[in-house]
Amino acid sequence: MRKDRIKYICDRCGAESPQWHGKCQSCGEWDALVEFRLPDGPPAVTRRAPMGAPVTATQVDPDTQARSPSGLHELDRVLGGGIVPGSLVLLAGDPGIGKSTLLLQAASSFAAAHGGCLYVTGEESLSQVAMRSRRLHTLSSRLLLLAESQVEAIAQQVEQTSPQLLIVDSVQAMYSSASTSLPGTVSQVRECTARLLSLAKSSALPTFLVGHVTKEGAVAGPRLLEHMVDTVLSLEGDRHSGYRLLRCVKNRFGSTDELGLFQMTENGLRGVPDASAALLAERRAGAPGSSVIPSLEGTRPLLVEIQALVARAAPHVTPRRSVTGLDYGRTCLVLAVLEKRAGIPLAGEDVFVNVPGGIRVTEPATDLGLALAVAGSYQDAVIRPSTACVGEVGLTGEIRAVPRLDRRLAELARHGFRCCVAPPGPQKRAPDGMQVIAVEDLSQAFRAAFSS
Ligand code: TYD
Ligand code: MG
Repeated sequence: MRKDRIKYICDRCGAESPQWHGKCQSCGEWDALVEFRLPDGPPAVTRRAPMGAPVTATQVDPDTQARSPSGLHELDRVLGGGIVPGSLVLLAGDPGIGKSTLLLQAASSFAAAHGGCLYVTGEESLSQVAMRSRRLHTLSSRLLLLAESQVEAIAQQVEQTSPQLLIVDSVQAMYSSASTSLPGTVSQVRECTARLLSLAKSSALPTFLVGHVTKEGAVAGPRLLEHMVDTVLSLEGDRHSGYRLLRCVKNRFGSTDELGLFQMTENGLRGVPDASAALLAERRAGAPGSSVIPSLEGTRPLLVEIQALVARAAPHVTPRRSVTGLDYGRTCLVLAVLEKRAGIPLAGEDVFVNVPGGIRVTEPATDLGLALAVAGSYQDAVIRPSTACVGEVGLTGEIRAVPRLDRRLAELARHGFRCCVAPPGPQKRAPDGMQVIAVEDLSQAFRAAFSS
């Protein structure tokens, strides 16, 4: 083997080094560098492009990447319409969030439509998977289960059974005989992924990999794999709420904007087609400290409630800021603008902010909803009935434009809202029965939104 085909990778942080050191130069861990041999021949991540003369873009048929729908509508939507042959998809998420459940359901509905699926588990026994499968009503003779942790053995089984879809649960449980490290370490996870990637590409076999993320920042985790795989999906949510959000973090075959919503039931994950209605179902209209915003994740508008509670902080203690479901930095920015530009003194107050349903919304268009919820809680003011708001809050307290206002207004109208406080600017025609009140700054927004 040539010398330049050997790399050293830190098993703790994933840093690469051309030579071995006793201490990782990046994270300082001792004895953590592991030899990593790149496979002989061309690197496994090389795209299998036909060699030859260049062609014009118009001569290439983009439809050769035809997709096969899995049958789980929300999953297909997030993938951009279905599963691409030969694609390697990483499904990342906290342990216990529902990754195995989702992929078992996907495997079963894909198998019913397109033929055999091979579901490989390195974490559970076959009877555990079969038991879950029975609970999900996904038992099928086209769904092959295999308890195996060695990627070479998986490749052999793929050759023998020629499945149409391969699922490997999880990448942290796999090992390759080409590496001597323990399963779950950076070098093993990389080696196994490289092996499965070349298997997927060489036999046009779509493959899903499960990857756990840990709160501590994913040691040997999916972060490291993001550049190797074609698509990264993330399953998120509050384990207690029942809702699960499926997001696309990276997609070589489509947009990353789409979002899927599921509900965890006793029979597995069920797609939620009307996500807005589900998220607003438990809202108490007329409560101070609550606002509704039409957020837009990808092409899908989603009505979410923002709740805030402002309460006097205990004396001599730093006031608390607790933010769930929104970006912490943005929330602090909006609180500072409220204090400085809208005369709401929050320095001595505890502020709690939450988006019910375990949903996380991060676009700046949520700013105005947050500002109104916080101001409403502080002043005990209630937002007018059937009124929502949307807008980015600037540092001078101005309300800034948001993209695709028309889609957001249509979603509000569909759910019975009759008024929206929004940024000024060229208004497209509002839906029938919907009043749009354009506001330029926070004080105008307060006057427009709160009942007098
Ligand atoms: P699981 O798919 O095993 O999570 P992961 O693979 O991400 O670790 O499922 C996690 C939880 O989901 C588990 O605690 C039980 C719950 N669950 C249900 O509520 N309903 C179901 O039908 C199934 C299969 C699981
Ligand atoms: Mg699992």
